[in-house]
Amino acid sequence: MDRAHDRTSVNLDDVAALERGDPYGVRHVLAEFAAQCRVARGLRPEPRPQATTPRLVTVAAMGGSAASGDLLAACAAETLDVPVLVHRGYGLPPSARPDTLVIATSYSGDTAETISAAQAAIERRTPLVVVTAGGELARLAATRGVPQVTLPSGLMPRMALGYLFFPQVEILRAVELGVATETEVEESLDVVEALGKELGPERPVDLNPAKQLAQAIGGGLAVIYGGPTTAVSAYRWKTDIEENAKVLATAGVLPEMNHNEIEAWSAPGARRLHAVFLRDAGEPREIERRFAILRELIGDDAGGLSEMWARGRGRVSRLLSLAVLGQWVSYYLALLRRVDPWTVPRLDEFKRRMAAPGRDCH
Ligand code: F6R
Repeated sequence: MDRAHDRTSVNLDDVAALERGDPYGVRHVLAEFAAQCRVARGLRPEPRPQATTPRLVTVAAMGGSAASGDLLAACAAETLDVPVLVHRGYGLPPSARPDTLVIATSYSGDTAETISAAQAAIERRTPLVVVTAGGELARLAATRGVPQVTLPSGLMPRMALGYLFFPQVEILRAVELGVATETEVEESLDVVEALGKELGPERPVDLNPAKQLAQAIGGGLAVIYGGPTTAVSAYRWKTDIEENAKVLATAGVLPEMNHNEIEAWSAPGARRLHAVFLRDAGEPREIERRFAILRELIGDDAGGLSEMWARGRGRVSRLLSLAVLGQWVSYYLALLRRVDPWTVPRLDEFKRRMAAPGRDCH
């Protein structure tokens, strides 16, 4: 068993113990996620962006902010004939030209890669909208008259998914790209609200699938698999587990993993792994069969295997519901592992060292 984890000593139904293990109150942030989404729906860029429909949309972002772009791209894939790309890195790819819309998204506004993407868009005269709660990116947008959505500050970027995502849906709507209908957005808010009640700390393990899954993963490692629609959710679960619970997780996607990764399950270490299938009632019959066969082939090798189902009809609900579930699972996993789910000291230290002037590379 992982030494950082002592499952016997943390009772997930002991609300006082959860409070002690969560000094920054992540439980409140997660419980208020539906309210966050409702506020986010009302946020708009100022000044208004040009209404020309682009040929390509590029969301430039990193980490938790990029997760909102993944969600946007996954929703857009069902509805738009204009591709939505998520660019994680410095500058912009050559595909970003004057007929592209760049959405530079950084919750803190101080992410070097995203600032450099915004600068590249300004230099190339590519239409640009900024989504941020402040920092250098907000200053750049204000100086250059770039349309900007100003988000409420004070959260960890990965916990601001609602603030980051819904304004981007509105930005695309403003350029005649309908990612989701009003009905779909409303449905997603209801689904997220209901889940908040079902997964929170007051809900006991017996009735709480997020607590149950965190306990089942326990001191092992989570291997998350999604299908074509839920692949982005699998990646989001991986990063939430890594940042909140401070333990490695991997994410894979069907059908691709059937062609390579499946072999890794014959390794002796497989017993330490807990497979999580992120399922979607709308997935094609072929994908359903692939999950069933995968279960047959790896079920006996894995330390455990769980299936979690997306909720709702529209794609926004289905993907947001899995994101909410992943947030809570990673939260409980952090508490079981006795680590603070809020702070990210190595990530901060990395940024600090990168920003230090005159640092040589060897
Ligand atoms: C921290 C987090 C990180 C950040 C990333 C980029 O909570 O989620 O993954 O999102 O370091 O920072 P922002 O989102 O501020 O551009």
